[in-house]
Amino acid sequence: MNKKLLTKIKQLKEKHNAVILAHNYQPAEIQDLADFTGDSLGLSIQAAQTDAEVIVFCGVKFMAETAAILSPQKTVLLPDKDAGCPLADMVTAEQLCQLKQKHPDAIVVCYVNSPAEVKAESDYCCTSANAVELVSSLPTDKPIIFVPDRHLGQFAAQKTGRELILWPGYCHVHVAITEDDIKNAKAKHPDAIVMAHPECTEPVKQLCDQILSTGQMLKFVAKATAKCYIVATEVGMIHALKKQNPDVQFIPASNRAVCPNMKRITLDKVVGSLQSMQYKVTVPEKIRIKAKRSLDRMIEVLPTK
Ligand code: 13P
Ligand code: SF4
Repeated sequence: MNKKLLTKIKQLKEKHNAVILAHNYQPAEIQDLADFTGDSLGLSIQAAQTDAEVIVFCGVKFMAETAAILSPQKTVLLPDKDAGCPLADMVTAEQLCQLKQKHPDAIVVCYVNSPAEVKAESDYCCTSANAVELVSSLPTDKPIIFVPDRHLGQFAAQKTGRELILWPGYCHVHVAITEDDIKNAKAKHPDAIVMAHPECTEPVKQLCDQILSTGQMLKFVAKATAKCYIVATEVGMIHALKKQNPDVQFIPASNRAVCPNMKRITLDKVVGSLQSMQYKVTVPEKIRIKAKRSLDRMIEVLPTK
């Protein structure tokens, strides 16, 4: 059955000159069929560089929107129109403008997990892979507003020693990972290295050895020699890690850390997406140009490594 679907997807990809990008939290079969997998930063760069005419984005809406902002001449498809990110939707452009009015001198940094309209009202965009470097590159004589994830913002503030004006947004998947989850996993696997995503809460991060984006987790494990890791992020990451390191043990810090939006993408929906060119993700040109500025500034400050 799957073989049939995979053949169909291959044919449709060739027909439409399409490329499939998948985030590290996607279901295993979607990660396996993708042309590129990665974190938000890696996928943004892939989206900007690919020669394909069609991008099928297996992820959530803000990721497909980022691809549409960077590559307006391409058709960007999200296989499930309702695959959103509740964290991204925790701040609106209107709310950000109100905050900017209260801090007229502030530089605005938005996490890539945000709507296009919020990116358009920001000076810089960042991902979990580069938030710390980006904040540390900013002038020290100006306040900094950081939206919408307060846990990533707090991590960037702590690492850079800068005081950030934080928005109270959070990812429901990552805040569901508790200190007890980490303590229990450590008790069972005392030699394991604990890796956490910066969207986890501060008490959880304090119990961990490494705070890394999903792409950074893959890079870290590739260079390290440990044989067991506890992974405090969305469970899809276990497949990505295992695939790259078949002889290493990866323990999810919590089996509850499942992002229902990421799991909306299925093989059937990818076929439907390529057959009917759905669901097209577009950004109005006025917003796209402004949003692209904040993404371009992120890429300028942090040339691709
Ligand atoms: P990464 O950029 O680390 O892949 O994270 C994206 C995300 O949605 C985290 O929840
Ligand atoms: Fe959004 Fe959290 Fe899902 Fe990432 S894991 S897409 S931040 S809801």
